[in-house]
Parts: sequence; structure tokens; C-alpha cells
Amino acid sequence: MYKIEAATRLADRVYEYWIRAPQVAEHARAGQFVILRLHEEGERIPLTISAVRGDAVRVIFMTVGKTTEELATLRAGDSISDVVGPLGKPSEIDNYGTCCIIGGGVGIASTPLIAKELKSAGNHVIGIIGARSADLLILEDEMREICDELHITTDDGSKGVHGFAADVLKKLLAERKIDRVWIIGPAIMMKVTAGATVPYGVKTYVSLNPIMVDGTGMCGSCRVTVGGETKFACVDGPEFDAHQVDFAELMQRQRIYTGQEKASLERFAE
Ligand code: FES
Repeated sequence: MYKIEAATRLADRVYEYWIRAPQVAEHARAGQFVILRLHEEGERIPLTISAVRGDAVRVIFMTVGKTTEELATLRAGDSISDVVGPLGKPSEIDNYGTCCIIGGGVGIASTPLIAKELKSAGNHVIGIIGARSADLLILEDEMREICDELHITTDDGSKGVHGFAADVLKKLLAERKIDRVWIIGPAIMMKVTAGATVPYGVKTYVSLNPIMVDGTGMCGSCRVTVGGETKFACVDGPEFDAHQVDFAELMQRQRIYTGQEKASLERFAE
């Protein structure tokens, strides 16, 4: 069993859990994830490793369905049946020069670990974090501490730039040389934001979030198309070259079980 050491509500429907998982914590690198199963009959869900502290890893999640709703009922001291990881390939960290790391919504959860490793590798790190509104913005202080500069956007203008991360990125690209870009957030946000770097030919990574089951390349549920080739996000990714990703297919496959997910959540709520 894996003990929850701390459980905090960060924003509406967004929670931060520190889970004691020594073997995961020892090997975790930026860009990797874990698969959790709350109990024996539980569904398996992938969550990014957002930070590591001693023997514990941090995951941040939004309640979007039955399992995340159930997870949100757990408190510090409670335990989770399985935490498998670290899974997936780590981010391609190197000394590139100037790197921009962008998080949208709960996708901001992935940014501190990547920013930290990029900073340690000697890069000038620019962070852009965005949310629908100020109250949904997470990890601002942490990202401000890690990054050399931090830009904030909100869709409604309640904090920072009124607009999207793509707007800030376009401005930065027009003003100076950026060598690598990471974007993590909802699929549509990653697609639109990655479009900004195409004219500049800047290598851009996105962290894909398809449906996953086993997380070991066996079940095929996380199949994505990148550069015309079939890839499995759990073992070949989750980070891929943003300019090669078939986002339309990703978004279509993310919706496959919408009906079943809704029915399962309704049963849980009864
Ligand atoms: Fe099953 Fe990736 S989750 S192959």
C-alpha cells in the first residue's frame, strides 16, 4: 500500500497529493508519470510526476470522472493500492540555451520538474503558465522560484496577460531566440500553442494524454500517430515532437468512452 502523506486542495476540483513511493521517487525524472489504482477493483489512471521530495512523489489532478472523484475523497494517512512507475521516457533535457516551458490548466503540474532539470542543465528558463481564471492558476510561486522569468495568462484577464499562452509565446518568439519549447495542457491548447513555433522552426515537445490502461505498451489504448507512424504514448512518449502529432486523432480517441465514463460517474455519485 502507498500512503498519502499530504493532501491539499489547490483550486476548484484540483488536488495535490504527496504519496510515499520510495522506488518511484528514487528513479523519477522530469516528463515521467505513474499509474495509480486506488483499490483492487479500481480503474488504472495515469498521472504525471509533478515533484519528488525524499521518498514521496507529488501528483496533481482534477476531478473529471469516477476515479478522480474517488481519489479526491482520500485524505492524508489514507493509502492507495498501487502506484506503478516511473513510466514513460524522461524529457529530453540538455543545455539548449533558452527554453520555454508552458503549462495550461492542470497541465501546469508537469512544469516544475521539467523547468528544474532544464535550469540545472544550464538553460535560461522561461515559464508561461495559464488558466481560465486567477483562482484556477496553480504552482505560481513554485514556478517563479525555478524559472528565470515567469509569464502568466488568464482567459478572462483576472491575472497576468488577458489571453492565451500562445499569445505570450508568439511575442517572445518575435523578440528573441528561443531554442526549445515544452507545452503541457489540454490537447487543443497544445495544438494551438505549438502552431506558434512552426514558422520559427523551434523544436517543440508536447506531453500527450491519451487514455491509458496498462502503461507498458501492451494494450494499445494509448495509440497516437506521430509523423505518420503509430506510437504508444506510455512507452514511446509521453513527450513527442509537437509538429508531428496528429492532434485530431488524439482528441477523437480521448472521447471514445465519454458515455461509459459519464455513466460510471453517475453510479458513483448515487
Ligand atoms: Fe496500454 Fe500504452 S497504455 S499500450
